[in-house]
Amino acid sequence: MGIAGKILIVDDEQDALDNCRRILSRVPYDCLTECDPSRALEIIQRERPGLILTDLRMPQLDGIEVLAAAKRMDPSVQVVLLTAHATVQTAVTSMRYGAFDYITKPFTSSDLVQVARRAFGEDESTGAKQAGVTEVRPSVDHRRQGTRASCARVIGERPAMESVFSLIDKVAPTHSNVLVYGESGTGKELVARAIHDASLRADRPFIPVDCVSLPDTLLESELFGHEKGAFTGAHVSKPGLFEVAAGGTVFLDEVSGMSQTLQSRLLRVLQERQMRRVGGIRFLDVDVRVIAASNQDLEAACRRGEFREDLYYRLNVIPIVLPPLRSREGDIPILAQEFLRRFMKQQGAALGFVPNLDSTATELLCGYAWPGNVRELQNVIERAAVLADGPLITAAHLPERLRQVVVDEAGPGEAGSFKLAKQAAVTTFERSFLIELLKRNDGHMGRAAREAGVDRKTVERMVKKHGLRERF
Ligand SMILES: Nc1ncnc2c1ncn2[C@@H]1O[C@H](COP(=O)(O)OP(=O)(O)OP(=O)(O)O)[C@@H](O)[C@H]1O
Ligand SMILES: [Mg+2]
Repeated sequence: MGIAGKILIVDDEQDALDNCRRILSRVPYDCLTECDPSRALEIIQRERPGLILTDLRMPQLDGIEVLAAAKRMDPSVQVVLLTAHATVQTAVTSMRYGAFDYITKPFTSSDLVQVARRAFGEDESTGAKQAGVTEVRPSVDHRRQGTRASCARVIGERPAMESVFSLIDKVAPTHSNVLVYGESGTGKELVARAIHDASLRADRPFIPVDCVSLPDTLLESELFGHEKGAFTGAHVSKPGLFEVAAGGTVFLDEVSGMSQTLQSRLLRVLQERQMRRVGGIRFLDVDVRVIAASNQDLEAACRRGEFREDLYYRLNVIPIVLPPLRSREGDIPILAQEFLRRFMKQQGAALGFVPNLDSTATELLCGYAWPGNVRELQNVIERAAVLADGPLITAAHLPERLRQVVVDEAGPGEAGSFKLAKQAAVTTFERSFLIELLKRNDGHMGRAAREAGVDRKTVERMVKKHGLRERF
């Protein structure tokens, strides 16, 4: 491998360093790591890396300072900030100081690899900025190298989703059929797409088929196609989705909804890898991978005689079980923040900020049981972002059913609602007090702190909490 440059990774957490180093072993550059940002500056001076990846929040020296110092030493160095606190403010500030890009944590392997390649001018074709969790489909090269490109859009914090991610990685390069289990809204289709995107079939179609929304005969002709005159109304011949998906993946959603007749036909296709269109005589080769999904226990359906056991074994070569959102509470704030970011991006940069969730709102999100899982969370967040129309999302912007939870759990009767009302009132008071205070002091935090009789740090903390920095 021709080593064209060095990468320095700066992060105060050793685990994060090790992780980045492991991921970047897939690019042809030497990787240096340092957990002390002051020592990192010495390394920059001595080793002259071409790319620096630095954490934003570190106790001794923050990432922006590392960026500024590195640029002073070597204006040609590329610096990418890794930030868990994704705000437009951070990005704007880092860009102003000459950052090449920033990545929002949690990021995927492919985010990191792609940004490194672009920084070295290797991968210009990917073009668009890659901040945050990328939705750009990984290139074939990355897949061949087995990066975790598959999980580019599936968000989840280890270890809760770790086994899901590692199964996706293991199964993607194979041709095995996969059965994805999970309650409604847990991301079954997303996972199926991730497997397809990370597989060698990625350049071929991914075709989702809903097995419950169509009547039996229509579903049959959708899947297997029909010849002209096969039934009344079949004026022309039509290829089936198994043909259209040639070389790709067919995603059979709610597979338990298939009739016994269709189950038998599907079984034959999977066994023989050949099929005939409805009314056809010719055998056609079938080259598709089948990923099926179910929110019901298929084994139980087999015991009840509703689902063919032999088909079940064909489909269930690799089962992937998606945990419900309520059992991975840690993912809730991460998903919420990511959905906010995506929503604001869709709305354009007009608003200029990504709202933050205040602590009560975060608590309410984490305390709710989410019967509709990730899909329900996504809707709640979108609604809150619209209602908030500002940089802070509070309990007031969440649906009644979420607020109910804390009231119920907070203890008997009035105590819960009083606590909540008090919290909301204090937050509102704090915010408007702060805005007036800062206006009177032209946004000068030191002067504002003196007038209010608190120390500067308190004002800074409150400004951050209420997402006000942008305004002053
Ligand atoms: N881990 C995740 N990370 C990011 N987004 C997710 C995740 N899981 C689900 N989503 C999002 O939630 C929504 C629902 O996901 P999806 O349609 O894959 O769920 P499903 O299990 O197929 O639901 P259903 O059973 O109702 O068909 C989608 O918009 C998807 O992008
Ligand atoms: Mg689905």
